[in-house]
Amino acid sequence: MAETTARHPAARAGEVTVELVDLAEQRLPMLDEPVPARFGDYRHDHTRRWSTVVAAYDAYVFVTPEYNSSVPAVLKNAIDYLDAEWRGKPAGVLTYGVRGGGRAAEHLRPILAEVGMEVLPAHVELGLFTDFDWTGADRSDPTADGRISPGEDRAAMITAMLTELLAAVRAAGRDAVPAGGR
Ligand SMILES: Cc1cc2nc3c(=O)[nH]c(=O)nc-3n(C[C@H](O)[C@H](O)[C@H](O)COP(=O)(O)O)c2cc1C
Repeated sequence: MAETTARHPAARAGEVTVELVDLAEQRLPMLDEPVPARFGDYRHDHTRRWSTVVAAYDAYVFVTPEYNSSVPAVLKNAIDYLDAEWRGKPAGVLTYGVRGGGRAAEHLRPILAEVGMEVLPAHVELGLFTDFDWTGADRSDPTADGRISPGEDRAAMITAMLTELLAAVRAAGRDAVPAGGR
């Protein structure tokens, strides 16, 4: 994913910076703020840290697997923690799963809209058996990890999504720093 985004002409021209924000590294507990995020009254250091991370970007690509026909709880939780940090910013959605994770995308879209994001109409789906590189992985091992390795058509869709995202950022008069997932 990082390689695909880094190949985007705007990234190569230095017009945008694309950074990975990995929720596994954020280690957010299940939401424990006493005040709803819309009030911006954060009581915990982990929320303030997460707020600083998200506030730094002008746009996002949410990269997520599909879990039981929806988004993983860790992603919903991370979104729920904040409000103003998401509001008004463009978002792209990229899902992966056995058949591409489209059901997760359909759930994620209204969640992002609810926190005020401008969600791009098209999302990208990657199939675990078609758009991942499993080289060196033991496929009989359920803990084996593949790497996102989109085929040419999917890579083109990702590039198109980044182009649209950039256009939305520019239209909103922001700088351009889309954050990508892995
Ligand atoms: C709890 C759970 C539920 C899952 N449900 C689905 C599902 O509904 N559809 C699907 O295509 N894949 C499903 N999968 C497979 C995941 O999409 C796949 O294992 C993916 O690689 C997980 O990504 P991660 O390792 O980044 O969490 C599920 C996996 C888990 C752990």
